[in-house]
Amino acid sequence: KEIAFIFDLDGVIVDTAKYHFLAWRNLANSLGFEFTEAHNELLKGVSRVRSLEILLEIGKVALTEDQKQSLLIKKNEEYLSYVNKMTADEILPGISNLLDYLDVNNIKYALGSASKNAPLILEKVGLLNRFSAIVDGNDVSKAKPDPEVFLIGAQKLQMKPENCIVVEDAIAGIEAANAANMVSIGIGDAELLKKATYILKDTTGFTNDFLKNLIN
Ligand code: G6P
Ligand code: MG
Repeated sequence: KEIAFIFDLDGVIVDTAKYHFLAWRNLANSLGFEFTEAHNELLKGVSRVRSLEILLEIGKVALTEDQKQSLLIKKNEEYLSYVNKMTADEILPGISNLLDYLDVNNIKYALGSASKNAPLILEKVGLLNRFSAIVDGNDVSKAKPDPEVFLIGAQKLQMKPENCIVVEDAIAGIEAANAANMVSIGIGDAELLKKATYILKDTTGFTNDFLKNLIN
């Protein structure tokens, strides 16, 4: 049977969460409160605007719409200063092998990310032209856990949702894949991602054996 993959970006293909963290933490500090790694977990898979809302709730800070807009710009500028330094070395282990495996087996793959910076990041790490389709934060109106991002991905690949396999590190992303009636592979903590069809501790879990079993 014909299948396709749809990949989340942040936390699956590259670890940009650490750069989001630096930028959000500096923003929080400039507003006078602490922002921890645990707080950062709450922002994984969450849109930029919603992330700021959550951050402001953590700091119990109330701002006007104009102030929020300028903070969003500031945060993204700092984030992009890190992204602009990214290279192919930052592709997570196992991912290049996985993409090669899919190419060799004529299995198409798309990107399904909430990030508006997704094309730039893929370009930086040299993967932009390998995806058959890219769906990013500019293409969707409903954020994960809504299935929209993955359903558009399936459509662009001309695949039925039930024949798509989503790779995700965020709970919201697993929920989105499940809501889209797709197979889901969670990357990370088994307890956190227990709603996924399959769970791998990290991206090194994409061994050829795992892939053979999955696909056949
Ligand atoms: C991904 C990340 C989130 C990030 C979101 C928006 O889902 O996991 O942490 O907030 O993308 O990213 P952007 O690059 O548009 O700010
Ligand atoms: Mg992610």
